Amino acid sequence: MTPLARSDGVLRCGPFALDDIAARFGTPLYLYDGALLEERYRTFEAAFAGARLLVAYSVKANGNLALLNRLARLGSGADIVSGGELARALEAGIPAKRIVFAGAGKSEEELGAGLEAGIYGFNVESREELHLLERIAVRRGVRARIALRVNLDIASPTPHEYTRTGHAGTKFGVPADEIMDLYRWAASRAALRVAGIAVHIGSQIVDAEPYERAAREIFALERALSDEGIPLEYVDLGGGFGVAYGDDSEIDLARVAAAVLPAVRRRGLRLILEPGRFIVGESGTLIVRVLYVKRSGNKTFVITDGGMTELLRPSHYGGYHQVEPVRARPGAAVVVTDVVGPVCEDGDFLARDRAIELPAAGDLMVVRTAGAYGFSMASNYNSRLRPAEVLVAGGGLHLIRRRETFADLIRGERIPA
Ligand code: LLP
Repeated sequence: MTPLARSDGVLRCGPFALDDIAARFGTPLYLYDGALLEERYRTFEAAFAGARLLVAYSVKANGNLALLNRLARLGSGADIVSGGELARALEAGIPAKRIVFAGAGKSEEELGAGLEAGIYGFNVESREELHLLERIAVRRGVRARIALRVNLDIASPTPHEYTRTGHAGTKFGVPADEIMDLYRWAASRAALRVAGIAVHIGSQIVDAEPYERAAREIFALERALSDEGIPLEYVDLGGGFGVAYGDDSEIDLARVAAAVLPAVRRRGLRLILEPGRFIVGESGTLIVRVLYVKRSGNKTFVITDGGMTELLRPSHYGGYHQVEPVRARPGAAVVVTDVVGPVCEDGDFLARDRAIELPAAGDLMVVRTAGAYGFSMASNYNSRLRPAEVLVAGGGLHLIRRRETFADLIRGERIPA
């Protein structure tokens, strides 16, 4: 299933032609295919059938309430990294009992909010965080359920160094050689309930091998803990499951499953996974309108009304996204172009050196596979208004976030008297 099919020369999402959608809601615009979102969730879940599974969808990939609510109704939990994501997940109807809280820098307020809500577990990333959480739990007279996030020193092969989080020398996780000590301490505290162990090695990983290695090492630690009288309820293998952005292939979930299912069954453990991009990446499309086409120094630039403020991935990570016209232009010359945005930075681009049918001003284009880390990383830089988001679901077209206005832009600002 693809979110967009071309018929009569125009891209459609379900029954709706993208040029009609753009005419109604304006551009730049994020469009989501609800059926595909659901299919991706079910595909993921099915790959791990046979485990007692909690899919903790990673809210950072895309936190729109409407999407979270659809996932909640499919049974999804949430992986959150801030008080804001906690509030979002709860507001969207994800039960606290299906929420895990990760992040190397949770504040005292955020830890307190997680306890208040009664979340399933905290993935604790340092000794200091563990001590702080314990003090807050004591003060509140509650027990915090914890997993330690272990840094296994696995160098994951992600496309960009910024999205590798599994090696020693990153801010993430507790070094493996400190793990046993910290678990012993946690197990001795009445206000802490040692519940699990967690790892997350990086994002956009299409090779199953690092997961196999992480699984081996996690289960070895789980056994060692159990042998010491510290039995766990769950293992959390994190997220990072890569999707296909071009003609590359996505992660082989069957291989990942083969590496974890036998062990979780044998050990009677619950399995938590934190996919973000795998669930929401492909279902999202960014629609932009061409403003100008110009040449400068031997290069051709297609300047659109969307750029790094709408989709930061190309600029920030060198991320590749397929771009194509909404309406085919039979006979148009194929030209190597940079598709760029209106932001005043040379790093403001959606695609570089791409051979595409040269569009004309006024044409619409799509940027594919933009559902994950698209809107959620959008900004107001250059005082640009963040785009609207629209969902195709149940045969209808739903505005799930209105376009920002100038009032949104200056909300909260004050000129001193
Ligand atoms: N769990 C933890 C602890 C994470 O840090 C992340 C992502 C995930 C799960 C979900 O990863 P996913 O399944 O979506 O790959 N902005 C970057 C990706 C940053 C990922 C940060 N952590 C990008 O656009 O490529």
